[in-house]
Amino acid sequence: MNIRWSHCVLRVRDLDAMVSFYCDVLGFAVADRGPLGPDGTQIVFLSGSSSDHHQIAFAAVRGPEDATSLEHNAFRVDSIADVKEMFARVTADPRVKAAAPLTHGNAISVYFADPEGNGIEIFCDTPWHVQQPQARGWDPSKSDDDVLASVEADFRNEPEFMPMERYRQNGRRPSVRVEEK
Ligand SMILES: [Fe+2]
Repeated sequence: MNIRWSHCVLRVRDLDAMVSFYCDVLGFAVADRGPLGPDGTQIVFLSGSSSDHHQIAFAAVRGPEDATSLEHNAFRVDSIADVKEMFARVTADPRVKAAAPLTHGNAISVYFADPEGNGIEIFCDTPWHVQQPQARGWDPSKSDDDVLASVEADFRNEPEFMPMERYRQNGRRPSVRVEEK
Protein backbone atom coordinates (compact mmCIF):
# COMPACT_ATOMS: atom_id res chain seq x y z
CA MET A 1 0.00 0.00 0.00
CA ASN A 2 1.37 3.39 -1.02
CA ILE A 3 0.59 5.79 1.86
CA ARG A 4 1.45 9.51 1.69
CA TRP A 5 0.89 12.25 4.25
CA SER A 6 -1.74 14.72 2.97
CA HIS A 7 -2.98 17.21 5.56
CA CYS A 8 -3.69 17.86 9.21
CA VAL A 9 -6.62 19.34 11.08
CA LEU A 10 -5.95 21.32 14.25
CA ARG A 11 -8.33 22.24 17.05
CA VAL A 12 -7.97 25.96 17.69
CA ARG A 13 -9.18 28.52 20.21
CA ASP A 14 -9.09 31.67 18.05
CA LEU A 15 -10.11 30.73 14.52
CA ASP A 16 -9.74 34.20 12.99
CA ALA A 17 -6.27 34.71 14.45
CA MET A 18 -5.06 31.35 13.17
CA VAL A 19 -6.50 31.82 9.67
CA SER A 20 -5.03 35.32 9.42
CA PHE A 21 -1.59 34.13 10.52
CA TYR A 22 -1.39 31.24 8.07
CA CYS A 23 -2.71 33.38 5.18
CA ASP A 24 -0.71 36.56 5.91
CA VAL A 25 2.59 34.98 6.94
CA LEU A 26 2.70 31.62 5.18
CA GLY A 27 0.71 32.60 2.10
CA PHE A 28 -2.11 30.07 2.30
CA ALA A 29 -5.58 30.88 0.96
CA VAL A 30 -8.98 29.85 2.28
CA ALA A 31 -10.35 27.01 0.15
CA ASP A 32 -13.62 26.48 2.04
CA ARG A 33 -15.25 27.21 5.36
CA GLY A 34 -18.48 26.23 7.08
CA PRO A 35 -20.21 24.56 10.02
CA LEU A 36 -19.02 21.15 11.21
CA GLY A 37 -22.37 20.21 12.66
CA PRO A 38 -25.73 21.51 13.84
CA ASP A 39 -24.11 23.52 16.67
CA GLY A 40 -22.49 25.77 14.07
CA THR A 41 -18.89 25.04 15.07
CA GLN A 42 -16.77 26.40 12.23
CA ILE A 43 -14.01 24.74 10.25
CA VAL A 44 -11.77 26.60 7.78
CA PHE A 45 -9.75 24.78 5.11
CA LEU A 46 -6.52 26.30 3.77
CA SER A 47 -4.52 25.31 0.72
CA GLY A 48 -1.59 26.54 -1.28
CA SER A 49 -1.62 23.60 -3.65
CA SER A 50 -3.09 23.00 -7.06
CA SER A 51 -3.69 19.34 -6.24
CA ASP A 52 -5.06 19.38 -2.68
CA HIS A 53 -8.36 20.92 -1.62
CA HIS A 54 -6.75 21.59 1.77
CA GLN A 55 -3.37 21.09 3.37
CA ILE A 56 -4.30 22.33 6.82
CA ALA A 57 -7.66 23.01 8.44
CA PHE A 58 -8.65 24.66 11.70
CA ALA A 59 -11.69 23.59 13.71
CA ALA A 60 -12.86 25.94 16.46
CA VAL A 61 -13.30 23.14 18.96
CA ARG A 62 -10.29 23.29 21.27
CA GLY A 63 -11.49 23.15 24.84
CA PRO A 64 -9.54 23.25 28.13
CA GLU A 65 -9.61 19.44 28.30
CA ASP A 66 -7.82 19.04 24.97
CA ALA A 67 -4.17 18.43 25.79
CA THR A 68 -3.17 18.65 22.15
CA SER A 69 -4.36 20.76 19.27
CA LEU A 70 -4.10 17.87 16.82
CA GLU A 71 -7.48 16.64 15.58
CA HIS A 72 -6.06 14.36 12.89
CA ASN A 73 -3.29 13.72 10.42
CA ALA A 74 -4.50 12.47 7.05
CA PHE A 75 -2.74 10.05 4.74
CA ARG A 76 -3.69 9.46 1.11
CA VAL A 77 -3.78 5.98 -0.43
CA ASP A 78 -4.40 5.00 -4.03
CA SER A 79 -7.78 3.27 -4.05
CA ILE A 80 -11.03 2.37 -2.32
CA ALA A 81 -9.57 -1.13 -1.96
CA ASP A 82 -6.69 0.33 0.06
CA VAL A 83 -9.09 2.24 2.34
CA LYS A 84 -11.15 -0.93 2.84
CA GLU A 85 -8.00 -2.91 3.60
CA MET A 86 -7.01 -0.34 6.24
CA PHE A 87 -10.53 -0.39 7.69
CA ALA A 88 -10.31 -4.20 8.02
CA ARG A 89 -6.83 -3.94 9.54
CA VAL A 90 -7.73 -1.41 12.23
CA THR A 91 -11.07 -2.97 13.14
CA ALA A 92 -9.19 -6.25 13.78
CA ASP A 93 -6.47 -4.55 15.86
CA PRO A 94 -7.22 -4.44 19.61
CA ARG A 95 -5.16 -1.24 19.93
CA VAL A 96 -7.75 0.63 17.89
CA LYS A 97 -10.89 1.36 19.90
CA ALA A 98 -13.13 2.49 17.02
CA ALA A 99 -12.99 3.10 13.30
CA ALA A 100 -15.44 5.27 11.38
CA PRO A 101 -15.91 4.99 7.61
CA LEU A 102 -16.81 8.51 6.42
CA THR A 103 -16.90 10.18 3.01
CA HIS A 104 -16.63 13.89 2.25
CA GLY A 105 -17.70 13.43 -1.36
CA ASN A 106 -14.23 14.37 -2.58
CA ALA A 107 -12.67 11.60 -0.49
CA ILE A 108 -13.53 8.17 0.90
CA SER A 109 -12.03 7.82 4.36
CA VAL A 110 -11.69 5.81 7.51
CA TYR A 111 -11.05 7.64 10.79
CA PHE A 112 -9.52 6.13 13.91
CA ALA A 113 -6.98 7.06 16.60
CA ASP A 114 -3.51 5.88 17.55
CA PRO A 115 -2.78 4.54 21.08
CA GLU A 116 -2.27 8.10 22.41
CA GLY A 117 -5.51 9.42 20.96
CA ASN A 118 -4.12 11.26 17.94
CA GLY A 119 -6.67 11.14 15.14
CA ILE A 120 -5.77 9.47 11.84
CA GLU A 121 -7.62 9.68 8.53
CA ILE A 122 -6.78 7.27 5.70
CA PHE A 123 -8.45 8.30 2.44
CA CYS A 124 -8.49 7.99 -1.31
CA ASP A 125 -9.64 10.73 -3.64
CA THR A 126 -12.90 10.49 -5.56
CA PRO A 127 -13.18 11.93 -9.09
CA TRP A 128 -15.26 14.84 -7.75
CA HIS A 129 -15.03 18.16 -5.98
CA VAL A 130 -17.75 19.04 -3.45
CA GLN A 131 -17.98 22.14 -1.28
CA GLN A 132 -16.72 21.40 2.24
CA PRO A 133 -17.35 20.60 5.04
CA GLN A 134 -19.41 17.51 4.24
CA ALA A 135 -19.47 14.06 5.86
CA ARG A 136 -21.61 10.96 5.49
CA GLY A 137 -21.13 7.28 6.21
CA TRP A 138 -20.22 4.64 3.62
CA ASP A 139 -20.39 0.86 3.70
CA PRO A 140 -17.02 -0.96 3.55
CA SER A 141 -18.82 -4.26 2.87
CA LYS A 142 -19.91 -3.03 -0.57
CA SER A 143 -17.90 -3.53 -3.76
CA ASP A 144 -15.58 -0.71 -4.79
CA ASP A 145 -17.88 0.18 -7.70
CA ASP A 146 -20.93 0.23 -5.43
CA VAL A 147 -19.13 2.43 -2.88
CA LEU A 148 -18.23 4.95 -5.58
CA ALA A 149 -21.75 4.88 -7.03
CA SER A 150 -23.29 5.47 -3.61
CA VAL A 151 -20.93 8.39 -2.95
CA GLU A 152 -21.87 9.97 -6.28
CA ALA A 153 -25.57 9.48 -5.53
CA ASP A 154 -25.17 10.97 -2.04
CA PHE A 155 -23.29 14.09 -3.17
CA ARG A 156 -24.28 14.87 -6.75
CA ASN A 157 -26.88 17.42 -5.63
CA GLU A 158 -24.57 19.10 -3.13
CA PRO A 159 -23.09 22.58 -3.79
CA GLU A 160 -20.20 22.72 -6.27
CA PHE A 161 -20.39 19.01 -7.17
CA MET A 162 -18.27 18.71 -10.33
CA PRO A 163 -15.43 16.64 -11.80
CA MET A 164 -12.20 17.42 -9.97
CA GLU A 165 -10.48 18.26 -13.25
CA ARG A 166 -13.00 21.01 -13.98
CA TYR A 167 -12.63 22.39 -10.45
CA ARG A 168 -8.87 22.67 -10.96
CA GLN A 169 -9.27 24.19 -14.44
CA ASN A 170 -11.69 26.76 -13.05
CA GLY A 171 -8.82 28.18 -11.08
CA ARG A 172 -10.55 27.75 -7.77
CA ARG A 173 -7.30 26.52 -6.29
CA PRO A 174 -5.52 29.23 -4.40
CA SER A 175 -1.98 30.03 -5.36
CA VAL A 176 0.85 30.77 -3.02
CA ARG A 177 3.58 33.21 -3.89
CA VAL A 178 6.67 32.74 -1.81
CA GLU A 179 8.89 35.80 -1.85
CA GLU A 180 12.53 34.98 -2.32
CA LYS A 181 14.82 36.26 0.37
FE1 LIG B 1 -9.05 15.25 6.93
